[in-house]
Amino acid sequence: MKYTMQNLLKEDRLFSVSQRFKEGARVKDRSLFDLADNNYCDYWQKEAENLHWFKTWDRVLDWQPPHAQWFIGGKTNISYNCLDRHMPALKDRIAYFWRGEYEGCERMYTYGDMHEWVQKCANGLKKLGVKKGDRVAIYMPMIVEAVVAMQACARIGAIHTVVFAGFSSHALAERINDAECTLVITADFVHRKGKKIPIKKQVDEAVKDCATIEHVMVFSTVEESCAMTSKRDVWYHELVEGVANVCSAEPMDAEDPLFILYTSGTTGKPKGIVHTVGGYMVGAYTTTKYVFDIKDSDVFWCTADVGWITGHTYVAYGPMLNGMTQVMYEGAPNYPHKGVFWEIIQEYEVSIFYTAPTAIRMFSKWGADILKAYDLGSLRLLGSVGEPLNPEAWMWYHEHVGNKKCPIVDTWWQTETGSIMITNLPSIDKQKPGYAGKPLPGIEVELVDESGNQIQHGSGLLTIKKPWPSMLRTLWKDDARYRATYFRSPDYDTYYCGDAAAKDEDGNIMIIGRVDDVINVSGHRIGSMEIESALVDHEAVAEVAVVPKPHEIRGEAIVAFVILKEHILPDDALKNTLKKHVVDMIGAIARPETIIFTQDVPKTRSGKIMRRLLREMVHDLPLSDMTTLANQEVVSSLKEHYQFAKSRS
Ligand code: WTA
Repeated sequence: MKYTMQNLLKEDRLFSVSQRFKEGARVKDRSLFDLADNNYCDYWQKEAENLHWFKTWDRVLDWQPPHAQWFIGGKTNISYNCLDRHMPALKDRIAYFWRGEYEGCERMYTYGDMHEWVQKCANGLKKLGVKKGDRVAIYMPMIVEAVVAMQACARIGAIHTVVFAGFSSHALAERINDAECTLVITADFVHRKGKKIPIKKQVDEAVKDCATIEHVMVFSTVEESCAMTSKRDVWYHELVEGVANVCSAEPMDAEDPLFILYTSGTTGKPKGIVHTVGGYMVGAYTTTKYVFDIKDSDVFWCTADVGWITGHTYVAYGPMLNGMTQVMYEGAPNYPHKGVFWEIIQEYEVSIFYTAPTAIRMFSKWGADILKAYDLGSLRLLGSVGEPLNPEAWMWYHEHVGNKKCPIVDTWWQTETGSIMITNLPSIDKQKPGYAGKPLPGIEVELVDESGNQIQHGSGLLTIKKPWPSMLRTLWKDDARYRATYFRSPDYDTYYCGDAAAKDEDGNIMIIGRVDDVINVSGHRIGSMEIESALVDHEAVAEVAVVPKPHEIRGEAIVAFVILKEHILPDDALKNTLKKHVVDMIGAIARPETIIFTQDVPKTRSGKIMRRLLREMVHDLPLSDMTTLANQEVVSSLKEHYQFAKSRS
């Protein structure tokens, strides 16, 4: 079998939840699964009926593979459903407990506050001339204003594209240009580990290359000012001075785009994943409710940044659609100290905690003693997302964070799927370390081989057989790439997610990892080609091949094999320069951990780099089929180079 099974461990440990958890759970039996198995449209329709529609849909689904439309003819608004729908009942309920990075900096925002703010911000957007269908880039720190900005766009029908604030100005400009945004919403500074990073300056740098930008709207987070370009730049607080605090939500067509979120693919250019209003809303609402088994008394903390899909679905939308109270933290897990996450859980009595395997592995490395100083008794459910949660990390999470009493939902999904697809609901199925579990109601998955034949045992490509409401609709301005990336001829009716997986005899699914050239560093997807393009952009570089290698904490780390131009001296200073160049072009998340200078890389006779061989080399695996290799001699010298570089690092 082609997909490596190295992390497919024999796992016999199974964990059940207490009778009490089961009795109190929202999903007590398989009736939702049965309903969905019987007719998945009925299942989704029933969930959609829990939300507010200005006009009900005429048809639930129109599936013309590979294009799905959901709730056709329906009119709704996601911001209305997050806010107005809860008024006046939840007016005084806390929507967000927000904690700033430095001691004592905290704020609370009720649903009433959020309602008022979002409406004001929406009126501010209108004042700037933003209309339905316009694209707005959001480049913000983890402050509640980021959610306000997203919801304000959604309220008036503008399409937001949030760009993670860790991306460089170059990466920001690339996304603004692809989406042809007319406005960027940002803040003056980001607080990161005790430093103030002037993020507005990065926006200034980016928009120099963006002809479509008319305005930059800036939230002020500190006393000191930052440079503003007259006419183009506006302070948010000045813009909304005197604007009405009522702005009714635009009735949006269910299939109108809600947002574009860029994610890495296998070419140098990021893909603009397009999600639409109605289907995404139903997916976010339903999965939040069932997967996290939510109750009115819960305090939910998803640690993801709003710049990623997890921050969209499980910070900005899903919990608010359900009227939940959330925690949002501005800072890093180790600032101001390594116990800050546990301090936050204790202080706000967090009951549901949703984080990434990288963070869990980091906490386990820091040691369980740190947690002992805090009371984590409020926790009742834990979640994980973004990468495979290996059994050791699973056990550590279970023992030290969950005190052996909290079930863990290991949730598999993607930017493209919009909401969680696979996880075991603890009230229904046992949990098995290392396994995400089974698909949620309405989701049908299948493992197939390269030719699309179903695989019963062992590992294969993970596919989704039926459309679901929160699936991506297309790639922004590139429907051909949408078709080619996720579907296969002649039928185009099965979604290929790009991951390999394996199934145990009970149907539990273990995600093995990407089968394409996408690297997953700390749960962040980065395309090999994106990093390669950034490196060849440097004047010293002739050619590059980038592959992932296993990393104890981050899951994967980036290794770059670099061929320099003639007469360029390969030294350590140049390695650092090249690493910095990647950071400038993409962002710190894409910084290569190892750079290896080499004379050549393995290639096919048609000149394509065989990353597969390099991947095997850095994984210390035996090298597979080399018959198509044009330059056989390069492999042994590269192997030596690599071993040498490894021994020095
Ligand atoms: C990986 C994040 C193993 C997978 C929500 C997927 C996972 C990619 C899991 C999507 C999981 C996500 N176990 N791997 N529970 N969840 N992945 O678009 O490779 O940032 O294709 O969405 O992350 O990453 P994305």
